[in-house]
Amino acid sequence: MGLMRLLTRWLVLLLLQPVKITNSEAAENPSIKRTEVANASEILDRYLRKKCYDKRTRPNVTGSPEVVNVSMAIKAFSNIKESNMASAHVLRLLWPASRLTCLGYRSRIGRGKEFQVFVYLRQQWVDRRLAHGIDASLALGGTDVNRIWLPDAYFTNANDYEVFTSNQLVLIDSQGRIFYFAFVRIAAACQMDLVKFPLDVQRCQLTLESFRHTMEEMDFRWKEDEPITIFNKELAEFDVTTVKVDYKNSSYVSGNYKNLIVTFTFRRRMGFYIIQFYIPCIVMVSLSWISFWMDRYYIGERLSLGITTILTIVFLLGSSNSTMPRVSYAKAIDWYLLGSFIFVFSTLVSDLLIYRLRSKEVSAEKRKQKEEEGKPQNANIIFQCKHGFKPNYVADENGHVHLVTYQENKEEGTSRCSARVRTCCTACSKSTESARTDLSVLTNRCCRYMFPACFAIFNLIYWLALSTGS
Ligand SMILES: *[C@@H]1O[C@H](CO)[C@@H](O)[C@H](O)[C@H]1NC(C)=O
Ligand SMILES: *[C@@H]1O[C@H](CO)[C@@H](O)[C@H](O)[C@H]1NC(C)=O
Ligand SMILES: *[C@@H]1O[C@H](CO)[C@@H](O)[C@H](O)[C@H]1NC(C)=O
Ligand SMILES: *[C@@H]1O[C@H](CO)[C@@H](O)[C@H](O)[C@H]1NC(C)=O
Repeated sequence: MGLMRLLTRWLVLLLLQPVKITNSEAAENPSIKRTEVANASEILDRYLRKKCYDKRTRPNVTGSPEVVNVSMAIKAFSNIKESNMASAHVLRLLWPASRLTCLGYRSRIGRGKEFQVFVYLRQQWVDRRLAHGIDASLALGGTDVNRIWLPDAYFTNANDYEVFTSNQLVLIDSQGRIFYFAFVRIAAACQMDLVKFPLDVQRCQLTLESFRHTMEEMDFRWKEDEPITIFNKELAEFDVTTVKVDYKNSSYVSGNYKNLIVTFTFRRRMGFYIIQFYIPCIVMVSLSWISFWMDRYYIGERLSLGITTILTIVFLLGSSNSTMPRVSYAKAIDWYLLGSFIFVFSTLVSDLLIYRLRSKEVSAEKRKQKEEEGKPQNANIIFQCKHGFKPNYVADENGHVHLVTYQENKEEGTSRCSARVRTCCTACSKSTESARTDLSVLTNRCCRYMFPACFAIFNLIYWLALSTGS
C-alpha cells in the first residue's frame, strides 16, 4: 500500500509539477476600516503633543498586561541553505533598532542551516491614550511609527533580521485600537535532519518574544482566526505542508517572557533528485546487466561495460556531494548510490567468475591434451598414421574420436604421431567438460534473473523504509 501511494506521489510529482506553479497565491479579507480624513497628521500631531503622550510607557501601565495580538502573512520563503552568519553575530532588534545592541545580545546559533522568510508582521493592541474619536483611521508610515509606543518584538532564533523601515504602517482607529504592520526579512536558524534526504521533512521555527516587556507587562497572543497566512506555499525545493502555532515561556535573569512560536513543516520536492540521481542510477544498474546477455568469452567487452557503469555511478556519487547539503552522516540518497555501486560492482565480479569457470574448462582441456601428447602410444588409441600432413580421425575403444596429425621429425628422421583432442567428440566425451560448461552457463543464466530480482527487492526495501515512519 505504502509503495503504491509512493509511486502515485512520484507520478503526480513528475507529471503535475509544471502545472502546479500558477494557482498558488492566497488572499486575505480586508477587515480594517480605512476611511481617510484630510487633516490626519495635523490631528495626530496635536494629539501626541497635547496629551503629553509618553511613548516609553506602555498603554494601561500598572493595569493588566497589554494584550498584543500577532499575526503574520508570509510573502515568500527563500530556500533553506547553509548559514554563513558568524556565531558572534549581534542580533539586530526590531524595537528600537539601536537601543539594545549595546547590551551585546548575541545570537546563540552559529553555523548551521537557515531559512529566509519575508513576512508582513502584524501586531494589534489597544492604546486608550490615542483614542481620537474621529470616524476614520489615522495613519503613520515609515519612521513616524516610532512616535508611539510599540511592542518591542524580536525573533529569538533569527541569524539575521531586517525591518524595512520605509515599509511600516500604523493605523489608529477611533477607539484607540492600533494596527501595526511591518515588512520584515528574517533569516532564521533551522536544525535539519537529513537522514532521509531527499525524502525528508523539515521543521523550522520562528520564535517571537518581547525584549523589554515580561509576561506581567505584556501578553503576546496569536490572533484567533488565521494567525498565519502563507501567500506562496512553494519554494524551489520545498513545499510547505503544515503550519502550527504555539506558545512557550522562557525565563531569563531579567524575568519571564512569553514566546510565540510558529512551526513550518517543509517537504522536499523530489522531482529534481529523481531525474538527476535515481533514474540515472536505475538505468546504470540495468545497463550493467546487459553483460549477462553478451558472449561469455568476450570478457573484454563485458568488463568494459561493467567498468563504464561503475565509473558513471562514481561520477553520480561525486556530483551528488557537490549539489547536496554536506553532513557528517550518510543520507538516504547516499545509501541508494552506494547500493547501486555494489550492484554494478557485483555484476563485474560475476562476469569475471563466469569467465573463470569457462577458462578452467579450457585449461583442463589443454592439460588433457598435453597428457595425450605425452603418451601417444596409448593402448586405447589406435593410430592410423598416414603419410603426408593430412589430419586423420581415429576412434578409440571407448568411442572417443581424436584428431591425429602427422608430424615429421627432421633431425631424427623419424616420424611420430601425435594425438590432439579436438572437438570432434561423440556422446561420451562430453560428460566431464560439459559439466564445467554448464556451471558457467548456469551461473550466467542465474545472474540474468537474480540481479534484477535483487535490485527490485533492494528498491522495495529502500522505498518502503523511507516512506514509512514520519
Ligand atoms: C480637519 O479639517 C476639517 C475640515 O476639513 C475641520 O473641520 C476640522 O476641524 C479639522 N480638524 C482638526 C483636528 O484640525
Ligand atoms: C487596564 O487595566 C485595568 C486593570 O487591570 C483593566 O481593568 C482595564 O480593562 C485595562 N484597560 C485596557 C484598555 O486594557
Ligand atoms: C485580540 O484578540 C482577542 C481574541 O480574539 C480579542 O478579543 C481582542 O479584541 C483582540 N485585541 C485587539 C486589540 O484586536
Ligand atoms: C507560561 O506561564 C504562565 C504563567 O505562569 C502559565 O499560565 C502558562 O501556562 C505557561 N505556559 C506554558 C506554555 O508553559
